[in-house]
Amino acid sequence: MRSTNSKLRKTNIKLAALTFLLFTSNLMACKSSMEEDLAPADDVSSEAVVSANELGDEQALAGSFHLKDYTFKTVFDFPIGAAVVKERLEEPLYDKTLRKDFSRLSSESNFKFKSLHPEEDKYTFEKADAIVEYAKRNNMVVHGHTLVWSHDGTQPKWLLNHKGGAAEFDRLLKSHIQTVLKHFKGKVSSWDVVNEAIADNGEFKNSIWYRKLGREYFFKAFKYAHEADPNIKLFYNDYGQEFGGKKMRTIMALIEEAKQRGIPVHGMGFQLHTVLRITVSKITTNLALAASKGLLIHISEFDVSVKKNKPKTFILDDLLAREQGEKIKAIVKGYLQTVPKKQQFGITTWGVSDNDSYFNKAYPNRDHDYPLLFDKKYKAKRAYRGFIEAGLGR
Ligand code: XIL
Repeated sequence: MRSTNSKLRKTNIKLAALTFLLFTSNLMACKSSMEEDLAPADDVSSEAVVSANELGDEQALAGSFHLKDYTFKTVFDFPIGAAVVKERLEEPLYDKTLRKDFSRLSSESNFKFKSLHPEEDKYTFEKADAIVEYAKRNNMVVHGHTLVWSHDGTQPKWLLNHKGGAAEFDRLLKSHIQTVLKHFKGKVSSWDVVNEAIADNGEFKNSIWYRKLGREYFFKAFKYAHEADPNIKLFYNDYGQEFGGKKMRTIMALIEEAKQRGIPVHGMGFQLHTVLRITVSKITTNLALAASKGLLIHISEFDVSVKKNKPKTFILDDLLAREQGEKIKAIVKGYLQTVPKKQQFGITTWGVSDNDSYFNKAYPNRDHDYPLLFDKKYKAKRAYRGFIEAGLGR
């Protein structure tokens, strides 16, 4: 009895010491990430990307590889992309981070209907062209996003107010797609032809295109795109179909119907704006389903939000950063293991760093989210490390 008590006491002392150690190391980690976050935004040096990788090395001695020996370009057989905004391309750290790791660009908004075609008789290609030029200079390919977005809130006013019935909107759809694809011929090798057409209940969303042309707009868009440029890869892009259900079933049925009618849909984009609690096997089940039809599979707008139920002042701590890294690793691994090599079109993150994530820009109450691979100062996060580890098969 006495020896059991003394064993218990010793165990308690050990536990207390361990708790103290964990507590102080957590405090130190919190402190350093708080200090970083409180630093002025312009206090960034061009060394930031490199030093982050060195930090990653320290953190992962157990992984026994040097993060700085790798980039996405050396680790992955397919392009890793980022969605960019034209205005940021000249920012030194944004530019440096892109050039080091990324080999495909999407654009957050510069290729959308409203940006390219703001008035009925006016096309504005300057910003999109600047992205194409930047990509060319840096040996990157460009993925066009998007020809038809089934969301009235994002359409130019002239289109929503345009008079006319099916024939007139058919003409508009065709001329927009053909003008844009002619302009980018030989420069943009793949496109999201239709974006977000289907609701969770499996029905078509109520958009100007649906009201005017019914479900046929889906098939027409792919047909016109293929006619305009038979050499490019055409994608249907959406969010939430990774959970399966009616949405995924409708999308698969539409793609099958297109095939029966001789209209090519080459691939499916899974946006994967996702969250920490996502179950990876759900995603892989649906990646597998799309892949089983021979489609190219693009994770097209990847990010992993960590902000759920957090106060506005919340700062990404080490624990959460690791959790995010592990989740990203599991998702990338799932993609690599599930999608046959020939159908791995690539993975594109929606933005470059937490500084430019659309979550933070688009929603003022979300300015504390940390969904991307690089932190606000463009240092590689654990998220980046997890991504690389998946690619290395670690
Ligand atoms: C977002 C951009 O990131 C924002 O900058 C813009 O204000 C609104 O659109 N799904 C999509 C993308 O298909 O086009 C959206 O992009 C994000 C959600």
